[in-house]
Amino acid sequence: MTSLSICNVGKQYHKGATTLENINLEIRSGEFLILVGPSGCGKSTLMNMIAGLEEVSSGQILLNDHDITHAPPAARDIAMVFQSYALYPNMSVYDNIAFGLQIRKWPKSDIETEVQRVAKMLQIDHLLSRKPAQLSGGQQQRVAMGRALARRPKVYLFDEPLSNLDAKLRVEMRTEVKKLHQRLGTTIVYVTHDQIEAMTLADRIAVMKDGVIQQLGTPQEIYQSPNNLFVASFIGSPAMNFIPVTVERNDQGLFVQLSDSGGQRLNVPLRADLPATVGQELILGLRPEAITEVQPHRLSQADTFQGQFMVEMTEPTGPDTLTLLRINQREVTARIAPQANPQAGHSLALMLDASQALFFEPSSGERLRASPQQRIA
Ligand SMILES: Nc1ncnc2c1ncn2[C@@H]1O[C@H](COP(=O)(O)OP(=O)(O)OP(=O)(O)O)[C@@H](O)[C@H]1O
Ligand SMILES: [Mg+2]
Repeated sequence: MTSLSICNVGKQYHKGATTLENINLEIRSGEFLILVGPSGCGKSTLMNMIAGLEEVSSGQILLNDHDITHAPPAARDIAMVFQSYALYPNMSVYDNIAFGLQIRKWPKSDIETEVQRVAKMLQIDHLLSRKPAQLSGGQQQRVAMGRALARRPKVYLFDEPLSNLDAKLRVEMRTEVKKLHQRLGTTIVYVTHDQIEAMTLADRIAVMKDGVIQQLGTPQEIYQSPNNLFVASFIGSPAMNFIPVTVERNDQGLFVQLSDSGGQRLNVPLRADLPATVGQELILGLRPEAITEVQPHRLSQADTFQGQFMVEMTEPTGPDTLTLLRINQREVTARIAPQANPQAGHSLALMLDASQALFFEPSSGERLRASPQQRIA
């Protein structure tokens, strides 16, 4: 079993321009860690440094407490599937997958078994005699994945390995990757742009922005308790709704005011342990699933509010209908059961679950929380 430690790692491709800043990650043995973040935030750079393909400008990388910061790639026993997967163009699919095993001097029959096993799993077993140029992009990507999977390295690095697959195959491969991880228990670092992939596969997710880790946590922590506005807006699809509000006080304590389409006020209380003051401007974050059709059995719960909202547009997804409406003149998305029949131009009674409301400080973007020392990342 293999743990991977990234200690204060920085990268400067050019003098004065920092691509990665003080990255610290303790990847546990057998852990499935996912890196997400916008294009250009440094995900591939970090992966390439772990693989030994890019110089580390500062800090250390340890594999099982062994310093590999400057070790050549071949000495690391790490298999990587690159974002721009380069296959050997003159070799067949079979040989592309077998190559790593051949140079490790595996017996021929074992290679045959392994290539067949991997090819079957990736649904490319009918393509083994073809050359890469005779494959679609998605097929090539699966061959690149097969090449890494046929080895039994200490660590797998996957840089957007499923990005070129169609939606259905992508979901199937996602399941295969998860099964593979459950079976082998190999440590995996995986980059994706796909929220669902990140949420479904990861033991922990690291959310990056501009070369800095914004938050490291379980998918549930990242989703339910984002550290800041960036993480809150980056994770979740459709994105969290953000509504500017001002803190007020009544005899029950602090609250912020929301209003429905008819101007009816809904006073959303702030938890007493949040460090807010009267008159303070905040951003209220509410995920689409916190705005639903009225569920009568939940209306008696504290923190649920009913209002009447004018529907501006609907986007049926099947299981629910994403519905655009306005709260405090801000456009927000609600997640409504199709049976409630939301229709553009019609008014609809909806329920807000304010127990899911998060509050953010607008200038720093930080989430208000009871004890700031609990911050992760
Ligand atoms: N070899 C290089 N020389 C100089 N700058 C580079 C080099 N490789 C990457 N960069 C820059 O470093 C930054 C991070 O790039 P990187 O490829 O790590 O981003 P990424 O998070 O993987 O993005 P994407 O999601 O688009 O793949 C970018 O601004 C990129 O332009
Ligand atoms: Mg990349």
